Amino acid sequence: MSATLDAQAHAILKENDEGGYTIPTKGLYPYQWNWDSVFVAIGFATFDLNRAWLEIENLFEGQWDDGMVPHIIFRKNDPSYFPGPSVWQTKAEPFPTSGISQPPVAATAVRDLLEASSSADNAERARKIFPKLMAWHRWWLSYRDPQNTGTAAIVHPWESGRDNLPDWDEPISHVDTSNVPEYTRKDTTHVDPEMRPQKEDYDRYMAILCVGRDCGWDAAEVVAKTPFLVADPAITMILLRANRDLLVIAEKLGLNDQKAEIEAWIARQEKGMSFLWNDEIKAYVTVNLRTGVKGTGVSSASFLAPYAGVGEKDVIASMQAHFDRIAEKATYMVPSYDPEHPGFEHRRYWRGPIWAVVNYMIARGLTETGDHIRSEKVRADTAKIIEQSGFAEYFSPIDGTGAGGKAFSWTAAVWLAWATPTLEAKAA
Ligand code: DGY
Repeated sequence: MSATLDAQAHAILKENDEGGYTIPTKGLYPYQWNWDSVFVAIGFATFDLNRAWLEIENLFEGQWDDGMVPHIIFRKNDPSYFPGPSVWQTKAEPFPTSGISQPPVAATAVRDLLEASSSADNAERARKIFPKLMAWHRWWLSYRDPQNTGTAAIVHPWESGRDNLPDWDEPISHVDTSNVPEYTRKDTTHVDPEMRPQKEDYDRYMAILCVGRDCGWDAAEVVAKTPFLVADPAITMILLRANRDLLVIAEKLGLNDQKAEIEAWIARQEKGMSFLWNDEIKAYVTVNLRTGVKGTGVSSASFLAPYAGVGEKDVIASMQAHFDRIAEKATYMVPSYDPEHPGFEHRRYWRGPIWAVVNYMIARGLTETGDHIRSEKVRADTAKIIEQSGFAEYFSPIDGTGAGGKAFSWTAAVWLAWATPTLEAKAA
């Protein structure tokens, strides 16, 4: 079974490879997506380290002069996706791109690639990409922390990568959609609309996009004018983790001049975590920076604390208590949102389903902090749902059925890099 699935995962990566960059899945997502590509690189690294590097190097070809790495790179025009380059209207070169970013997982993957081989070529590739990672992280800390809280804010739900999380419902409810021009969605022609965001959410996504476009995608102006500005615990913790990995890369490459800047980022972010703490529910949550309103639910991001290396004993204890409570309610871990929250929907995009890539990060943090029992539960559940439902985009935590796109690259990649039982067999 596992060997067959390993072969299928290889085939999916090959099939979605457009020659140096990989699309998430055919039809639904026909371009290069930022964090998808990084997870794909981790999958490639299990059998082709050169190809893994290429994926990340090509992603950074889309980096903007201000350091931002966009969430989509439109290397060609594909009418099967909306909103495409003619809607975003960025002036990016050499390729059109979207105007927002996505979770900064790349430095963590670059550290993994660097550590995968001691060859001079490998170190050289890490050395070349290092300043680009620095510029991206500096961009997050310069532009996306306007209140200097030590956290990272997003200006669009798509920037979080967790598009229609119930936590966005409150901040997005203030978005005026009266000026949104007529548009036709494409996602619901590829996938059952029950598994995708609702029309009223989409209207608001478009309204926020139009504000960014009217600002000419100037980073400071977008933050000043966007109707949606929310500090995100997932981005914050992923960035904090990525900064720790960036520091290790700098040490390994002898880039000592850069270390003080990264150390200052880490210290600022470690302090900032308290801003995201909701003492009522005892979890890290979103904060609407326009109104101060905090998220009311436990999302899977709450379980990234060990991955980010944050949380005193009491934080970790409440995270463990939430994990065990949710594990009683869900058949499979880890739902993207608390099954006991009224916003939970088990098959609708980020309102409840399991995402293998988030599970991978959660389990990695749990393993690193010695919580092998919960970590193995997350891995085994991920393997079970893939065995049951194939390489779907996401999965119901209640019945394990697959949802969204099929033959999905990042699900195949994290299967190969982490979930597949054949890794255990190899290690034994
Ligand atoms: C989409 O089109 O749904 C994407 O998630 C946006 O990045």
